[in-house]
Amino acid sequence: EKMHTPFDAIGEEKLHQLIDAFYLRVGQHPDLVPIFPDDLTETARKQKQFLTQYLGGPPLYTSEHGHPMLRARHIPFPITETRARAWLSCMDSAMDEIGLEGPLREDFFARLVLTAQHMINTPENDV
Ligand code: HEM
Repeated sequence: EKMHTPFDAIGEEKLHQLIDAFYLRVGQHPDLVPIFPDDLTETARKQKQFLTQYLGGPPLYTSEHGHPMLRARHIPFPITETRARAWLSCMDSAMDEIGLEGPLREDFFARLVLTAQHMINTPENDV
C-alpha cells in the first residue's frame, strides 16, 4: 500500500496554486525583488518540482536537477534574516490565500521556517 504523504493530502493542484500565489508576492516584496529574476516562471517551475518532493511526492526536482544542495544553490544570493522573514511572510499569506489550514499547514510551515533559517548566508549589515 502507498504511504499517505503531505503531498497527497494537499494535492498537486493546490500545491501549484500555492507556489503561484507565493511568487506573485515575492515579485512585489521590496526585500526580495533585488535578488530574484524579473521573470519568475522558471523559478516557480523548479519550486513546484522541489516542494513536491519535499512533501513526500515524486522526486521531480532531483530527476531534472540532481541533488538539491539547497544551501549551496542559494550562496550566490545574499540572504539575510530580513530576507528569510520576507520569504516566509510571502508563503504565510499565500497559504492564507489558497485556504491551507490546520495541522498540515502548521507542519509544512514549521519545516519551511527551519529550511529558510538554514539558507541565511549574509549578515544584515553587509547588504
Ligand atoms: C532558488 C531566494 C528560501 C527553495 C532561489 C533563488 C533565489 C532564492 C534568489 C534563485 C531564483 C532563480 O534564479 O530562479 C531565497 C530566499 C530565501 C529562500 C531569499 C529565504 C530564506 C528557500 C526555501 C526553499 C527554497 C526555504 C525550500 C523550501 C528554492 C529552490 C530554488 C530556489 C528549489 C531553485 C534552485 C535551482 O535553481 O534549481 N531562492 N530562497 N528557497 N530556492 Fe530559494
